Amino acid sequence: LAALAAGAHAQDFPGSKPISIVVPFAAGGPTDRVARDLAEALRKPLGGGSIVIDNVPGAGSSIGAAKVARANPDGYTLLLNHIGMSTIPTLVRNVPFKVETDFEYLGIVNDVPMTLIAKPQMAANNYKELSAWIAANKGKINLGNAGVGSASHLCGLLYQTAMKTEMTPVPYKGTAPAITDLIGGQIDLLCDQTTNTSPQIEAKKVKAYAVTTPQRLTTPLLKNLPTLQEEGLKGFEVTIWHGFYAPKGTPPAITKKLNDALKVALKDPEFIKKQEGLGAVVATDGRIEPEGHKKFVAAEIAKWSPIIKAAGVYAD
Ligand code: MLT
Repeated sequence: LAALAAGAHAQDFPGSKPISIVVPFAAGGPTDRVARDLAEALRKPLGGGSIVIDNVPGAGSSIGAAKVARANPDGYTLLLNHIGMSTIPTLVRNVPFKVETDFEYLGIVNDVPMTLIAKPQMAANNYKELSAWIAANKGKINLGNAGVGSASHLCGLLYQTAMKTEMTPVPYKGTAPAITDLIGGQIDLLCDQTTNTSPQIEAKKVKAYAVTTPQRLTTPLLKNLPTLQEEGLKGFEVTIWHGFYAPKGTPPAITKKLNDALKVALKDPEFIKKQEGLGAVVATDGRIEPEGHKKFVAAEIAKWSPIIKAAGVYAD
């Protein structure tokens, strides 16, 4: 009878109940930006009902992810999370769910480059001068991040290792509050996604020095920034991806509707224009299929686990 009821419910999904997308970082940051743009593009393919964003920050995105893992698998509580999904298994020791088995994978949304930016008072006029400043200020550098396990934290880990320079981590609930403090000069450096840094770079509120992708970006604002590889950091590459999830056990009729709606959203010219304007690349490859998404996350878990173990940090 329950299966019948679930089946019937699946047919009329989505009904009039609002769909909630949990974002595991503070409002106003890059993850929130992707979620709000995506919600806009999902509205029509999901029947025009309301889609609300629920910011649930903390513990390397695992607090928000846990809320979705234990939610009713009825399609009305979803998760938008980034690369943090692949670091949780290594970083969060007491996590109440398994990334690999406790979610339905609804598809990858986009890939987002990161930028290395500094407070506006930073005297350096290019990456070489910034690198010299770092060498001259060892032990005195404050590097912002959105908490252990965040994208900004991972980029910061790799950057400190590449520069052979320890920096003092200054954690925030997201890189929205982090970039506010950077603008105020309270911290010196931040590695953050272009979806968040582009407007601040354009407004000259922060100073941008390099990008973390192997190739230079193509947006008018960022195309002249060198890659960190160009500046001598061999093999340095961090690209942040965002995935869409439902709780395990959500009926296949519902996960299919959600994945179909995602594919419509990813082709929405408005969504693509917004994302590309901020340096992001909307996903078009096999990762937009649930199986492709799941395989990709498993590969990312394997990639990041040794890097995080070597850093010896935990998010809880
Ligand atoms: C955010 O949305 O605040 C960022 O994704 C935080 C981070 O992961 O650096």
